[in-house]
Amino acid sequence: MPPSVISDSLAVHLFFASFLALPPLLNLYFLFTERRFVRLAKKIKLIAPAYYFLMAVTLFSGIILLTMLGELSLGLGMMVVAWLGIFIGEIKRHKLQKPISSHEEEMQAHFVIWAKRKYLLDLLLFLLALGLGLKFF
Ligand code: HEM
Repeated sequence: MPPSVISDSLAVHLFFASFLALPPLLNLYFLFTERRFVRLAKKIKLIAPAYYFLMAVTLFSGIILLTMLGELSLGLGMMVVAWLGIFIGEIKRHKLQKPISSHEEEMQAHFVIWAKRKYLLDLLLFLLALGLGLKFF
């Protein structure tokens, strides 16, 4: 395998993985600033496809790298854990958010607290995966 193919794949993987911080940051901003639930829910729904796209590219470029390099590491383990954590959390977020109507204030309040924790956890998982992947720690 020419080394340029590997370094190009690493660059693509790193480029798209870096953007994974943006959706949780934006969602946290909306969760802390938007008071009207209907508008908040719309904004989170709007961000979701971009989040899924970035996750898909990160996963596929990661799998390609894995097949080329074929070596396991702590950083790689953390990337997989982070990816799965974010993915499972997003499915749960979708299921929690979908049935909430505009008058169910108790469910809305519960969702907002849950979603704040979820996106903070996403950021933490992202930072751990990035830090271990780049061997910062
Ligand atoms: C939260 C998601 C992820 C982040 C933030 C992330 C980040 C990174 C970073 C920073 C690197 C090092 C890049 C370099 O040295 O230039 C890397 C490498 C790599 N990633 Fe990911 N990645 C993620 C998900 C994945 C997934 C889901 C897979 C595969 C299933 C994967 C497989 C790999 C492989 C094989 C390497 C190269 C080997 C290594 O450094 O251990 N990554 N990733």
